[in-house]
Amino acid sequence: MREKKKNKKFQWSHKHLIGLSDLSRQEIEFILDTAQGFEKFSTRSIKKAPTLRGKVVVNMFFEDSTRTRNSFTLAASRLSADVIEFSKKVSAVSKGETLIDTARNLEAMGVDIVVIRHSAGGAPKLLSRSINACVVNAGDGFHEHPTQALLDVYTIRRQRGSLDGLKIGIVGDIAHSRVARSDIYAMTKLGAEVTLIGPPTLMPGGVENLPVKVSYSLDDVIEDLDVINMLRIQFERMGGNPFPSVREYSHYFGLTVDRMKRAKPDITVMHPGPINRGLEIESEVADGPNSVILKQVANGLAVRMGVLFLVNQAAIQQGKEE
Ligand code: CP
Repeated sequence: MREKKKNKKFQWSHKHLIGLSDLSRQEIEFILDTAQGFEKFSTRSIKKAPTLRGKVVVNMFFEDSTRTRNSFTLAASRLSADVIEFSKKVSAVSKGETLIDTARNLEAMGVDIVVIRHSAGGAPKLLSRSINACVVNAGDGFHEHPTQALLDVYTIRRQRGSLDGLKIGIVGDIAHSRVARSDIYAMTKLGAEVTLIGPPTLMPGGVENLPVKVSYSLDDVIEDLDVINMLRIQFERMGGNPFPSVREYSHYFGLTVDRMKRAKPDITVMHPGPINRGLEIESEVADGPNSVILKQVANGLAVRMGVLFLVNQAAIQQGKEE
């Protein structure tokens, strides 16, 4: 209650959302509280709010996406913004136009918020320094995927009340995962104890500098976990083979029905998607009673409405101050 009162007085000041590493606990909680206010829109007969009426949001996705792209499109539409769907394949990028020139040209059409996914870590930051529009990172290289982590912690908070003291395992391909990086920042700032679990070949360089524990055996730690987040093995980002065989990986690190028997009965099972069924998680577990995977997707909509709302508010405020 006291926390809510404190957040009411809090003024959001960021017109870009590039990552969670620099955000405070209070700022992350403010985004979650704002998102919670938008959650009820999904159950209303009229699902729209006029919040971004007259504003233009462009979805600039240089990598494929199902969840993030459509969620941002729907979030912007529900806030009554006009939405431009930029696609690398049918744009002048194929003729050699740069990212900055592309964004500046879109901005010249009156774009207010750029949502960007790019294979290069740092692309959203670069963009935020080159254009006046708000920039929201929808996933950049191995760097960060802030709205995925926000919807992850939002979902955990909805399920468990709070992250304080929770033991959370993030399992699998940590090395190539921007989700893991943003999750680590969000989860630890909200008070959870995070353990990264996977083979040494899938641990990122510099893991010892992160505020996490590390385990190379899922069986050693599964009994202690309150929440388990299974990551996708990102074959498309790997140069060579990080493990001898898919079967072997599954045997040691897959979330199987058998392994679930050793977990706490109320363990929360998460996955950011897309799922490699039968590799990092068995279908019976992904679709089972402990899974919140589709709730994560549903919550992503409220979280992205909250983020679009807040960055626009900050831009309006900064415009007044200039
Ligand atoms: N979780 C996630 O980023 O999924 P998409 O690649 O489908 O956006």
